[in-house]
Amino acid sequence: MRVLVDGDRGYIGAVLVPFLQEAGHEVVGLDAGWYDGCDFGPQPGGYEQRTGDIRDVVPADLEGFDAVVHLAAISNDPIGHLNPGATYSVNAEGAVHMARAAKAAGVERFLFSSSCSLYGAGGDAPVAEDGDFNPVTPYGESKVMAEQGISPLADASFSPSYLRNATAYGSSPRLRADIVVNNLTGTAFTQGQVRLQSDGSPWRPLVHVEDISRAFLAVLEAPREAVHDQAFNVGRDEDVVQIRTIAEQVSEITGAPVSFAAGAGPDARNYQVDFTKIRSVLPAFAPQWTVPDGIREIWRDAGERGLTTDDFEGPRFVRLRKIQELASAGRLDLATLRTP
Ligand SMILES: NC(=O)c1ccc[n+]([C@@H]2O[C@H](COP(=O)([O-])OP(=O)(O)OC[C@H]3O[C@@H](n4cnc5c(N)ncnc54)[C@H](O)[C@@H]3O)[C@@H](O)[C@H]2O)c1
Repeated sequence: MRVLVDGDRGYIGAVLVPFLQEAGHEVVGLDAGWYDGCDFGPQPGGYEQRTGDIRDVVPADLEGFDAVVHLAAISNDPIGHLNPGATYSVNAEGAVHMARAAKAAGVERFLFSSSCSLYGAGGDAPVAEDGDFNPVTPYGESKVMAEQGISPLADASFSPSYLRNATAYGSSPRLRADIVVNNLTGTAFTQGQVRLQSDGSPWRPLVHVEDISRAFLAVLEAPREAVHDQAFNVGRDEDVVQIRTIAEQVSEITGAPVSFAAGAGPDARNYQVDFTKIRSVLPAFAPQWTVPDGIREIWRDAGERGLTTDDFEGPRFVRLRKIQELASAGRLDLATLRTP
C-alpha cells in the first residue's frame, strides 16, 4: 500500500515508519518538524519526508494514497494545558480536517492515533471500547472530539479506524522522556533514583512503541469490514499496572532506589482498560514486549547512546520544553501552534 504517515518525525512515527517499510509498504511522511534534531540514535530514512502543517493539507496532497496514518498531534497533557484552544485546533479540528481531505482525495483507509486517555477517570473496572468517555484533560477531550468528528465521514468508500493506544514506552530514535516508563528508567540512569511524581497509586495501561506499530500494521492490512469505523484499545491486559509497580520493576532492574518528588499525591488520570477486542478481531496483532523488557531496552540504549541529565530533562526529550524553546526563539506561536 502507499501510505501517508503524518507525525512521522515524532516518537511513534520514527518506529512505525521502518516497521511499515519492512512490511513492504511505501511510506510518505508529513510533519511540522517541531522535534527535528531531538535525536536518540540514527533516524529512519529511505522515504519522502514532507514538511508542513496538517491543518494546511488539501485533497490534492493526498491523491494516490491507499491509507493515511494520522499521528500528528500535541501529544501530551502538559502541552495541552498550555493552551487548550490550540490543542483542540491541532488534535481535534486538524484530525477531522485530515480525514475530510483524505476522503475527498479518494483515500480508503484512515487510521487515527487516539488514546486510552479519553476514558480518563475510568473507575475500578477495565473499560472496553463501548465504555463511557471521561477525559480529565484538554488532551483527552481533544481525542474524543476528533473521533466524534471523523466517525460521521465513514461510508462505503471511506473507512476510518481509531487506535486508542495505551501509554507508550520503549526506545525510539525520537525518544520521549515525558511518558512514565521512559521517565522512571531514564531518571534511574541519569540521577541514580527512580523518582515518582505521584504517590504511585494510579493505574495505567502501557504498550511498547513497537507493539503500537504492530497494531497499526494489523489494522492497515485487515479486511475492511473488520475495522470500518471501529475503535480498538491498543495494549495488553497484563500491562495495566499501577505506577508504583513500574517503579519497583525499574528499581529491581537498574538497582536505583525509589524516591518520591516533593508533594507527590494522587493523580486524576487513573484508568484500567480492557484489550479483549483487538485480540479477538485482529488476530494478526501479536504484541511481543513486556514492561521489564522495555525497561532493559531503554537502560541499554541510555548507556550505549550516552544519555545525559540535561538532554533527558530538557528540550531534546521533553516535548513541553521543546515547544517552549521554539516559542521563546520566535519559531512557534503558542496561541496558534503555528510557525509565525
Ligand atoms: N506516546 C504515547 O504514549 C501515546 C499514547 C496514546 C496516543 N498517542 C498519540 O500518538 C500520536 C503520536 O504520538 P508521539 O508520542 O509520537 O508524539 P510526538 O510528540 O513525539 O510526535 C508528534 C509529531 O507530530 C508533529 N506535529 C504536531 N502537530 C503537527 C501539525 N499541526 N502538523 C504537522 N505535524 C505536527 C510533531 O512535529 C511531531 O513530530 C499522537 O496523536 C498522540 O496523541 C501517543
